[in-house]
Amino acid sequence: CGIVGYIGKKDTTKFILEGLRELEYRGYDSAGMALLNDEKIDVFKALGKLVNLEDKIKKATLGDYTLGIGHTRWATHGKPTELNAHPHLGEYSYVVHNGIIENYKEIKDELIEKGVKFISQTDTEVIVHLFENYNNKINDTAQAFKNTISRLKGAFSILLISKAAPNKIFFFKNGSPLIVARGKEEGEVMFASSDAPLIGLADDVVYLEDQVGGIASASSIEFLNDNYSWSRLPTSKQFAQKDGFRFFMEKEIYEQSDVVSDCMIGRLKDKEINFDEIDSSILEGIKEIKICACGTSFHAAITSSYLFERLSKIKCNVEVASEFRYKDPLLTKDTLFVVISQSGETADTLEALKMAKKAGLKSLVICNVNNSSMTRLADYTILTRAGIEKGVASTKAFSTQTVVLWMLSLYFAKIKGSIDEQTLQKELKALREVPKTLIVESKLHEKCRRLSKRYLHGHGFFFIGRDVFYPLALEGALKLKEISYLHAEGYPAGEMKHGPIALADPELFTIALMPENMLYDKIKSNVEELSARDSTICTISPLDFELSDDFIKTQKLEHYMLEFFEMLVVLQLLSMEISIRLGNDVDMPRNLAKSVTVE
Ligand code: G6P
Repeated sequence: CGIVGYIGKKDTTKFILEGLRELEYRGYDSAGMALLNDEKIDVFKALGKLVNLEDKIKKATLGDYTLGIGHTRWATHGKPTELNAHPHLGEYSYVVHNGIIENYKEIKDELIEKGVKFISQTDTEVIVHLFENYNNKINDTAQAFKNTISRLKGAFSILLISKAAPNKIFFFKNGSPLIVARGKEEGEVMFASSDAPLIGLADDVVYLEDQVGGIASASSIEFLNDNYSWSRLPTSKQFAQKDGFRFFMEKEIYEQSDVVSDCMIGRLKDKEINFDEIDSSILEGIKEIKICACGTSFHAAITSSYLFERLSKIKCNVEVASEFRYKDPLLTKDTLFVVISQSGETADTLEALKMAKKAGLKSLVICNVNNSSMTRLADYTILTRAGIEKGVASTKAFSTQTVVLWMLSLYFAKIKGSIDEQTLQKELKALREVPKTLIVESKLHEKCRRLSKRYLHGHGFFFIGRDVFYPLALEGALKLKEISYLHAEGYPAGEMKHGPIALADPELFTIALMPENMLYDKIKSNVEELSARDSTICTISPLDFELSDDFIKTQKLEHYMLEFFEMLVVLQLLSMEISIRLGNDVDMPRNLAKSVTVE
């Protein structure tokens, strides 16, 4: 979901549409905007993609607007319908909102009792009615806005406009990100939930902290408190274009080799690993590592837990952030708290980080977006340098995260003296080979494309692997689920016999990750067990395997992590090709959002 807002002399409708388009890749299921000129507010909403909204606007007679607010919605409370799309109206005001109002029910009941009529099923609608309810009583929009904010609980980033204050946008940030900017032209104020819509159009911005808001007009931006500071917006826009690829996901798979090279620059030295962002003091007093993350980032986290224990000899455990938050976790100061996030905005991961900070733990974020909420909060940040990732199904973010974590495990190993020189050099040599391994060979892509037609049905997929190939199996299954909508599960190969094997029959597809350099014989036995029960087996391996129904041959590589990266590409390509054949929207799969800023 995304927010944009504009005050100024440019074409407001165009600004908002283009802004929303910049945020489109985050995933949404409806969109809308409200535009104001002195006496009148025009509203446009449409279900589905932005072109639908654009079509509606094209057909309308537009006014000369002085300001406007826009929104792309990813449904939380209430189905994705036009009625539930933002902006939401009261009698004379409109609001757009990211987040979840936790106490909306209580406020709604209270307002209904007072005779207010609600038309949507959203939590958002209470904001605008509450605001008008206060304003009707006190006839002071600023105070009414403040009163409204003080009643709301949960996560809410808001832009609100009202005929009662026709030159103003009221704004507030809590939880979900929101940026306010001074435009390059005089009297321009802009808002957006991430900086992409602002780049090139504004120089000075405030990345709003939680509990900060204010009132903006062409002549001033007043903040409700002092907890804000202006900073410079990056000037160059890393325009993410498809560059001839069919989908952003495809482009991003092909980009992995380059971005992983970028990610290693200055870090992978001749004889050691170096991170300018941290130094050896990061491990002072540290006995273990705890990692929290969600989705694909969670899979990078599990992968790294093998490396932190194997190479750095540091105890490491990993938890899904949404579970961690509510389990009353035991937090001790000898733990380095690590969060991993492409966006740096995922609500659950951010909250986990806040809990760790509050408990006084040292914290590190591995993130792709500088200036995101997490990088601003954590004690240390390591950026993954993957560039903007637009495909909702994460690819290059995962490969760069994994490379950072592998390098970090070696960096820690060196500090702790837990690795001998020969092993370290062997690992560094392998790291240098990663970009080469990630180059997509056309033969391999073609093989995945051809095979994909055999995997469009069936009653399910099991991706199996051992050691780091287990989290890779989880990631392979997640990719397939996300974009093909087929049921897939990742499983530790050795665990299949403890239940899942009961599902085995020819319509059950097993995708077996069989690297040469990691427990080959063990996984081989597990696959044999499945084959004996008639599961259809697709093997990904450099070694021929006679029981395979389908076989994707990978290169012979010297290190299991290199095999890991090559197999990662295979899994990404396979799910993408299956999704294409099924006619799905590869870049913006149904029901998913790129950055989930609600819990
Ligand atoms: C969403 C995305 C996933 C992503 C997850 C975590 O669910 O659809 O692709 O892995 O959030 O996102 P983060 O930005 O924290 O890595």
